[in-house]
Amino acid sequence: MTHSINFWAVVPAAGVGKRMNADRPKQYLELAGKTVIEHTLLRLLSAGVFAAVAVAISNEDPYWPGLEVSAHERIITAAGGKERADSVLSALKSIRALASDDDWVLVHDAARPCVTASDIRHLIDSLQKDEVGGILALSSHDTLKNVQGDSIAGTLDRTHIWRALTPQMFRYGLLKSALEAAEGNPAITDEASALELQGLKPKIVEGRPDNIKITRPEDLALAQFYMEHQND
Ligand code: CTP
Ligand code: MG
Repeated sequence: MTHSINFWAVVPAAGVGKRMNADRPKQYLELAGKTVIEHTLLRLLSAGVFAAVAVAISNEDPYWPGLEVSAHERIITAAGGKERADSVLSALKSIRALASDDDWVLVHDAARPCVTASDIRHLIDSLQKDEVGGILALSSHDTLKNVQGDSIAGTLDRTHIWRALTPQMFRYGLLKSALEAAEGNPAITDEASALELQGLKPKIVEGRPDNIKITRPEDLALAQFYMEHQND
């Protein structure tokens, strides 16, 4: 008997948004009539590919239960963790009984509300036949410098430097075991780095530059601009 491969989305949303310097975690700030996290989740839900979306939410979060999307039938709430990787692992465990090891998981930051169905499709189409999986990324337009103290120690070869975005797409079993093996390692700032630590080589898929992460206050206006100009 063959079984069909399912796609799951995992959304780490348990951060405090320190760099945003706002009165609440940045995923609950308003952007074009909705909170940041509502945009993110509604875009993932309407992409039409995910069996469910597992969202990691901090235990101290008073905002999540008040959002209508928290009760959506394809949303699963998991407990957040100390670091982003802990939150992702917790969300993966919350779908353990539903997912098979060879199902695909797309991990996407709650703080990237401009993600498009076209980027999600592009990632899936590019990697569906891949052994390991990979991530959306952007090349750098600027010349990059290696800086020691306040002076330049050298210029990096830009052709080898990419900026990691999300979604990051890996097989459920491989991603979960790589994150478990890396637990507590502060160098694991995205999913790909956990797989790299296993000696694996995740692929790069060029993403859209409008898929920004809300990090600093000025990013909200930029996200609003992109949303007003997106049509897919
Ligand atoms: N995240 C999480 N659990 C953590 C830390 C972060 O689920 N312990 C999530 C954030 O909510 C965010 C994503 O990981 O959606 C990317 O992290 P980042 O942009 O760094 O968000 P914050 O950690 O909230 O922001 P800051 O680093 O400025 O405090
Ligand atoms: Mg952070």
